[in-house]
Amino acid sequence: MESADVANDLTEVLLTEQQIRDRIAAMCREIERDYEGRDLLLIGVLKGAVMVMADLARELKRDVEMDWMAVSSYGAGTQSSGVVRIVKDLDTDLAGRHVLIVEDIVDSGLTLSWLRSNLQSRGPASVEICALLRKPEAAKIEIDARYVGFEIPNAFVVGYGLDYAERYRNLRDVSVLAPHVYA
Ligand code: PRP
Repeated sequence: MESADVANDLTEVLLTEQQIRDRIAAMCREIERDYEGRDLLLIGVLKGAVMVMADLARELKRDVEMDWMAVSSYGAGTQSSGVVRIVKDLDTDLAGRHVLIVEDIVDSGLTLSWLRSNLQSRGPASVEICALLRKPEAAKIEIDARYVGFEIPNAFVVGYGLDYAERYRNLRDVSVLAPHVYA
C-alpha cells in the first residue's frame, strides 16, 4: 500500500518509494566495489529488514548468500529497552565469512551493538552493517555502520518494513505516524 491509502494515520511522507529505490541502488554499487572478489553473506534481521533485504539483494549485480535472525528488542512499544534475545538464530556457520548485517533502522543502536558483537564472537572474517535508516538524535550507543541509506529525524516512522504494533510494514514509502495512532 501507499501512504495515501492510510493518509489519516500519517502526518508526512519522509521517503518515497523512488527515493528508497535510488538510494539502495547507490548502496549496492558501493557494496559491489567493496566486496569484489570475496564471498558475501547477507544477514537480515527479522522482521523489519525484510523489505530492504529483498530489494538490496535483488539490486546487487553479484551472487550472495542470505540468512536471517530474529531478535526481540522492544515488542509493541515505541522505546528500545536494550534487552536483546535471540528468537531465531542463523542456520549458517560464520567462521571465515564476510558478513553484512542488513537492517531497516538504527534507532538507539542497542540492538545492532549487541548483534554485531554476538556475530563477531562466531569467528567471521568481517562483520559490517548496512542500515537503510539511522536516527542520529536517538543514539544511545554509536554504531559504526558502513552503509547508511538516510539519516532521519527522531520521529516515529513506519513503512518499508517498519511497524507500529505489527502494522504499516507493507507501506511502500517511509512515513511519520500520526500521534493519535499511538497516543
Ligand atoms: C527494530 C529494527 C531494529 C531495532 C532498532 O526492530 O528493526 O532491529 O528495532 O532499534 P534500536 O537501534 O533502538 O535497537 P524491532 O525490535 O522493532 O523488531 P521488528 O524488526 O520485528 O519490527
